[in-house]
Amino acid sequence: MDVYEAVTSRRAVRGFTDRQVPRESLERTLSAAAWAPSASNLQPWNAYVLTGGPLAELKKRAGERVAAGDPWDEPEYEQYPPALKSPYHDRRSAFGEQRYGALGIPREDLEARQRAASANWDCFGAPAALFCYIDRDLGPAQWSDVGMYLQTVMLLLRAEGLHSCTQMAWAKYHRTVAEVVSPPAELLLFCGMSIGFEDTTTTPPAPRTGRAPLTETVTFVDDLE
Ligand SMILES: Cc1cc2nc3c(=O)[nH]c(=O)nc-3n(C[C@H](O)[C@H](O)[C@H](O)COP(=O)(O)O)c2cc1C
Repeated sequence: MDVYEAVTSRRAVRGFTDRQVPRESLERTLSAAAWAPSASNLQPWNAYVLTGGPLAELKKRAGERVAAGDPWDEPEYEQYPPALKSPYHDRRSAFGEQRYGALGIPREDLEARQRAASANWDCFGAPAALFCYIDRDLGPAQWSDVGMYLQTVMLLLRAEGLHSCTQMAWAKYHRTVAEVVSPPAELLLFCGMSIGFEDTTTTPPAPRTGRAPLTETVTFVDDLE
């Protein structure tokens, strides 16, 4: 698989089979992902990989919290600015429309949206999940390094025939994740990532998300006509 194919075939997959993810695939992926760049080579990522009993336990605990109507844990970082301005607000709305529209859920049906979102706590059926932590003392540049690491992981997973879905949703239940993975106190949970083989029998197939045209996000500064 070449790099372009890895990039374009990576999608947020939200339906996995229960086929186990080989431990060797995970080790190969995470060994290679360690070559992701970071400013001054700080390598500020801390990944915990859960499969089997520990992942089942996490899903169970999170599912119980959802069923009990438990409030989210106190946020440890701001996921989005409270007033998301244009064009980000519009892009988020378009994403929501597409994601829930594909499931036949109208905009005003918040309960149905929540039900669909609750599949996050089952890792969309994935048999493996990665939880990515960063040291609380690190700043925006290191968070960016972590993003590069996560994308590297996701691209390498494609080379293993695997798919993934990054999930900031897990940060809302960071205490429950911590109960299972016992991270040191200085670490903060950025996100989870479901990992597995895509369930292609899911109907309807999720539509591909769009992207802003190049002219909206890239400016070439040159002396060409
Ligand atoms: C940092 C980050 C957090 C995300 N959190 C969630 C999440 O909690 N739940 C979810 O279903 N998707 C989540 N996503 C997936 C995004 O919705 C998805 O990447 C985006 O809509 C673009 O679609 P694509 O990845 O299929 O190209 C997250 C993606 C990123 C990069």
